[in-house]
Amino acid sequence: MSGLMDQSPAQAIPQHVAIIMDGNGRWAASRGLPRVVGHREGAKAVRRSIEAAIGQGVKYLTLFAFSSENWQRPADEVSDLRGLLLQYLRSELKEMHEAGVRLKVIGEHSRFGPNIVAELGAAEAKTANNARLTLVLALSYGGRADILAAAKRAIEEGVPAEALTEHKFASLLATAGIPDPDLVIRTSGEQRLSNFLLWQAAYAELVFLDVLWPDFNEQDFAGAVKTFGARVRRFGARPE
Ligand code: FPP
Repeated sequence: MSGLMDQSPAQAIPQHVAIIMDGNGRWAASRGLPRVVGHREGAKAVRRSIEAAIGQGVKYLTLFAFSSENWQRPADEVSDLRGLLLQYLRSELKEMHEAGVRLKVIGEHSRFGPNIVAELGAAEAKTANNARLTLVLALSYGGRADILAAAKRAIEEGVPAEALTEHKFASLLATAGIPDPDLVIRTSGEQRLSNFLLWQAAYAELVFLDVLWPDFNEQDFAGAVKTFGARVRRFGARPE
């Protein structure tokens, strides 16, 4: 028993948790409500997940808020999501800043227009020196697009083939400077990566939860972290 207890709890906490927030639409449909209500409730779960990450001592939290494929959704739903994001920023930024959250955006978020770019840029600048939690918002993000853009950058920079190591390549990705996710959580019962952090999640532990995103709470986050702590990560090596 004491052997188990001796395992440092600090080691079982993932440094970086990434979440595929899924199930807003089904949550709303099951209540006969419009999808936007599911997204609105989903924004509340975003807040809970940030609080949970801070509470657990997680240093990086990446949220898949909008994928490159989400542009295929009807224009009114895209517009609702855009509006919710702006509303969230405006209502939560002050508190996030005071809580020590640093915001970082990845993905082609310029597709959302100049207002979003300006507000997100200002939020990133304001929170740049915070160190408690880095909140990475993946907006119009796709893993393949990220990898392709990194390859193009390598060519543009004239990186010689022998110098293009994994380390160098990672520095050309949107997530440069951010450690790889240790734990990827997906809600709603779907068991796919859906083009999220394809390079970065190479060795991540995957936890799929049956909860729909608007219902996701601190207990779900803690449960996933606990599951992570119980897994044995070998990174391709043999167990001792
Ligand atoms: C997945 O549910 C969720 C999304 C595509 C968007 C996530 C957006 C939010 C949580 C709200 C706003 C975001 C922020 C950062 C404040 P789905 O619509 O794919 O659900 P379904 O699969 O049940 O249809």
